[in-house]
Amino acid sequence: MKIIVTDTYEEMSKKAAEIIANKIIENNKCTLGLATGSTPIGTYKNLIKMYEDSKISFKDVTTINLDEYKGLSADHHESYRYFMNDNLFDHVDIKKENTYVLNGLACDDEKECKRFDEIINNHKPMALQLLGIGENGHIGFNEPADFFPFGTHLVKLSDSTMAVNKRFFKEEEMPKYAYTMGIGSIMMADTVLLIANGPKKAKTMRDSFQGKVTPHVPASILQMHKDAIIIGDKEAMKLLDL
Ligand code: PGA
Repeated sequence: MKIIVTDTYEEMSKKAAEIIANKIIENNKCTLGLATGSTPIGTYKNLIKMYEDSKISFKDVTTINLDEYKGLSADHHESYRYFMNDNLFDHVDIKKENTYVLNGLACDDEKECKRFDEIINNHKPMALQLLGIGENGHIGFNEPADFFPFGTHLVKLSDSTMAVNKRFFKEEEMPKYAYTMGIGSIMMADTVLLIANGPKKAKTMRDSFQGKVTPHVPASILQMHKDAIIIGDKEAMKLLDL
């Protein structure tokens, strides 16, 4: 596991974008696992800039996103499909048909999860999986649990995730369930890149990367990955003993 501490969010974002860009430069037909949330916005801005400067092209890149809220349509402003279009896909030369996000409006949960696992299987190994981290240690929407789920599944969001994310929704609209890629699929990526910033992530960063590996802190599994890169700003990393 490689741990990088940066002074600022901007520096974290730049480093993360460089690592992702290098994967595209190594293989222009690579598959990237992508994440949503406030943390990767700066990373995506840097990637857009690199595209505009003709340093990288997404023309032959495929992307697979980690998760999606159940019940939200692709054009709902808080859906992760909307987020990805708005923060990355609409600004680069990626082919939309090569961008995979779970369908929040799927009628049959099992079928949707199976469909997504087939997509993951058809593109494995992903060159890189980008991850944020929840204050409770979740990656994707793999919430603290008694085991590490392998494949794509439907999750009931934990009270802590609901509390953190409710700011984006009107009370009655907050989704209670989400689909997420499983921990097994995340672990199969050649490289996993987790980014975190701000003091609210400090405790979970210590528990995840200097605590024991346990499904009660889902991100802790990354300690077992052959090429895990953890980049945090100094606020997020302040409790780690480095
Ligand atoms: P955040 O979310 O980037 O908005 O902090 C991360 C996550 O919940 O995985």
